[in-house]
Amino acid sequence: MYVSDCISINGSGNLTIGGADTVEIAKEYGTPVYVFDENEIRKNLAAFRDSMNEYYGGNGLAVYASKAFCCKEMCRICMQEGTGIDVVSGGELYTALSVGFPADKIVFHGNNKTFDELSAAVENGVGRIVVDNITELETLSRIAAEKGRTAGIMFRIKPGIDAHTHDFIKTGQIDSKFGFALETGEAMEAVRKALTMPDVKLRGLHCHIGSQIFDIDPFELAAEVMLNLYKQIKDETGYEFDELNLGGGFGIKYLESEQPKPYAEYMKNVSAVVRARCEELGLKMPFVLIEPGRSVVGAAGITLYTVGAVKDIPDIRTYVSIDGGMADNPRYALYNADYEVVCANKAAEERSETVTVAGKCCESGDLIQENTKLQKVEPGDILAVLSTGAYNYSMASNYNRIPRPPVVMVKDGVSRVVVKRETYEKITENDI
Ligand code: LLP
Repeated sequence: MYVSDCISINGSGNLTIGGADTVEIAKEYGTPVYVFDENEIRKNLAAFRDSMNEYYGGNGLAVYASKAFCCKEMCRICMQEGTGIDVVSGGELYTALSVGFPADKIVFHGNNKTFDELSAAVENGVGRIVVDNITELETLSRIAAEKGRTAGIMFRIKPGIDAHTHDFIKTGQIDSKFGFALETGEAMEAVRKALTMPDVKLRGLHCHIGSQIFDIDPFELAAEVMLNLYKQIKDETGYEFDELNLGGGFGIKYLESEQPKPYAEYMKNVSAVVRARCEELGLKMPFVLIEPGRSVVGAAGITLYTVGAVKDIPDIRTYVSIDGGMADNPRYALYNADYEVVCANKAAEERSETVTVAGKCCESGDLIQENTKLQKVEPGDILAVLSTGAYNYSMASNYNRIPRPPVVMVKDGVSRVVVKRETYEKITENDI
């Protein structure tokens, strides 16, 4: 009935997540509040982890892209489920390390990592630093030499695939701030250079072709492009990589009408391409990494709000204003992102109205959804926006000095806070 499996309706007609009544959660923790179903997150992580065993014979690692949702408890959950973690900043790295996440299972991304971030990565023995450009390679090699360490690295490659057009295309991606281009020869140049550096160990190459991708073909093509490059590098330098990182980007369902391909199908098809291509090109089968973010947490989370003013503008539209908005979910303002919206305390009623859900920020564009179907609501009702688990908490801001909402996790109907609500004291703490 809903886009996410962990959402249902109970006997009181209230929306539930992970078996817990969302109206009760709103009462207990206040609104706005992010709520996650822990079992759903664990189920998704386990599915990715196990698929590496099933399709790559255990010769691989699923690495959770923590930019989708990062906090200490999420890092602990990944650790318990045996996945790796992808971090993209000193802050995400710090969070993972602070709960004792094994550094050799951390992948560090970013197109402009600072000296301090690179130093922290080397110092802590991060397993794979994904180097984005020659400047970074040189800095990293210097840092590793100074610290007497060897830095495990991968290069981020632009495989030249634009998966965001309807019919994905295999050109035109040279214009990206991320990674090394194939066309210009800079990827090959970087590889040659790294092979002369005693303080870095080049483990393999990485690509990430985009996010919220529904088709499997672009992923298959990316794997082919990468392995062709592996072959070219082997032929030209004699060096054969041990690893291949194929990135993340698997799409999830935000609306009932959307039909992403099942992950198992992705794994089956892409692993078949990797195997076949390696055989054909005479390459050894690499250790394969994947980096799912959205698909781990997106559908496992919702955001609860309280309805304030309901403003009906005759013949124009009805604005339903909530006590959150673009500060806790900037995705509609940024990307026109789709969401399913439900009145949590009237979930069993028909969604008979067409409304615009507006936030409380001082900005006309602060909308959560336009022309969406919703039950007839009144002030005090609880609104649930579904599938907000990915890139909502992580992209939240203090715009208008609004404190960030807390994160609550539900497991088998029992809830607990994993990130506390910010206070006014907290957001003024650094003011002098
Ligand atoms: N690996 C790399 C190198 C990435 O850059 C990303 C996402 C991922 C993995 C995870 O991709 P996912 O599986 O989550 O699609 N803020 C945007 C999404 C930005 C994605 C950035 N990179 C949004 O809210 O839709």
